[in-house]
Amino acid sequence: MTLQLAVAIALHQLATVIWVGGMFFAHFALRSSAQHRLDPPQRLPLLLSVFQRFFAWVWIAVAVLWVSGLWIFLGIYEGAMAWHVDAMIGLALVMTALFAYIYFVPYRALGQRVAAADWDASGRRVAIIRRIILVNLGLGIIAAMLGSAGRYLQ
Ligand code: HEM
Repeated sequence: MTLQLAVAIALHQLATVIWVGGMFFAHFALRSSAQHRLDPPQRLPLLLSVFQRFFAWVWIAVAVLWVSGLWIFLGIYEGAMAWHVDAMIGLALVMTALFAYIYFVPYRALGQRVAAADWDASGRRVAIIRRIILVNLGLGIIAAMLGSAGRYLQ
C-alpha cells in the first residue's frame, strides 16, 4: 500500500511539474523573449512549433494527473478525502476543459493561419491562447498548493 501511494504521488507530482512548470516558462520567459526579439513571420511559426511539442506533453500530464489522482483518491484513501481534494478536482476539471478548448479551437486555427502566412489572424489566436494559459497557470498553482499544503489546513 505504501509503495502504491508513493508511485501514485510521484507520478502526480511529475505531471504537475510538467504542466504547471511548462505554462510558467511559456508565459514568463518564452513569450516576452519571442515578442521582443522576433518579427511575426519568425515568431508565430516558432510558437506553433513550441505549442505542438508542449501540448503533446500536456495531454500526457492531464491523463497522468487524473489517473494518479483518482488512484490516490479512490484506491488508497477510499474516497474519504477533505475539502482540499474536492477543490483540486474542481480546479482540474476547469483546467482540463480550458486546455481542451485551447487545443481544439484557437490552436487548431493557429496552424491553419500560420500555414496561410496570415500573421494578423495568427497573432490573435496566440493572444487567446496566452490569456487562457495564464488563467490555467493561476488555477494550476492554486491546485498544486492545495494538494501539497491543504492537508495541514484541516
Ligand atoms: C491540475 C490538476 C492537479 C494538480 C496541479 C494537482 C497537484 C497536486 C499536488 C502537488 C499534490 C501533492 C502531492 C504530494 O503529496 O506531494 C496533490 C495531491 C493529491 N491530488 Fe492532485 N492535482 C491535480 C489534480 C487532481 C485530480 C484530478 C485528482 C483526483 C481525481 C487529484 C487528487 C489528489 C489527491 C487525492 C491528493 C492527495 C492529497 C492529500 O494527501 O492530502 N488531484 N495534487
